[in-house]
Amino acid sequence: MASLGVNIDHIAGVRQARRTVEPDPVSYALLAELGGADGITVHLREDRRHIQDRDVQLLREVVRSRLNLEMAATAEMEVMALGIKPHMVTLVPEKRQEVTTEGGLDVAGQLGSLTGLVGRLQEAGIGVSLFVDAAPAQLEASAASGARWVELHTGTYAEASWGRQAKELARLTEGCFLARSLGLRVNAGHGLTYQNVEPVAAIEGMEELNIGHTIVARALAVGLEQAVRQMKALVQNPRRDLLFGSSQP
Ligand code: PXP
Repeated sequence: MASLGVNIDHIAGVRQARRTVEPDPVSYALLAELGGADGITVHLREDRRHIQDRDVQLLREVVRSRLNLEMAATAEMEVMALGIKPHMVTLVPEKRQEVTTEGGLDVAGQLGSLTGLVGRLQEAGIGVSLFVDAAPAQLEASAASGARWVELHTGTYAEASWGRQAKELARLTEGCFLARSLGLRVNAGHGLTYQNVEPVAAIEGMEELNIGHTIVARALAVGLEQAVRQMKALVQNPRRDLLFGSSQP
């Protein structure tokens, strides 16, 4: 059964729109945990457009589930992670101009430097996950880096047209199988919604889904605790008959 990591970046985004103190993502992390979140995920971006250093420091103290820090593989972020020691670091690619994380990390293209960083973080007791496309070359490189987890990028699946969705789901399923056969543990995320999450949650061996935008959007209507509860029900008990061709006419 997959677990649910709740990404609260968009709560910080509302605060930063006014550069004020509310809504405070730290308080909302606790509400997400009340709703059943198995982990809290935040992305500390180089430009600090939503989550701030203070948020990560406070979250490390108050989160009772697990804190997953998404960050770029830079020297600045390495210092930050080694100081704060989240339970998990997920290394993501980052471009200043992007609206959200686009594409997976090119692990194969920077294996040497990533292997060093993965080793230093893991030596400090931090679990390391690499956010990658479900491509064999990236999964093989991820295993070679020494990382214990990968997070499969579900953006292409989430954005696929009806006709392509089953193909993209098969790519994720095969990626999950290959990653596990290479000894990696597998999470997934990006672009998942209440409508498209079940087939991904039903993939054999999928451990955790990291979901943010759709939960924060629903929270405007029903409150965060309830929005998390509704997503957790889908992640824990997905309808299995949706696994292939869920949206096929
Ligand atoms: N996983 C990673 C690595 C991400 O970068 C993001 C977006 O911040 C998510 C999961 C969550 O994506 P979404 O907000 O689309 O659910």
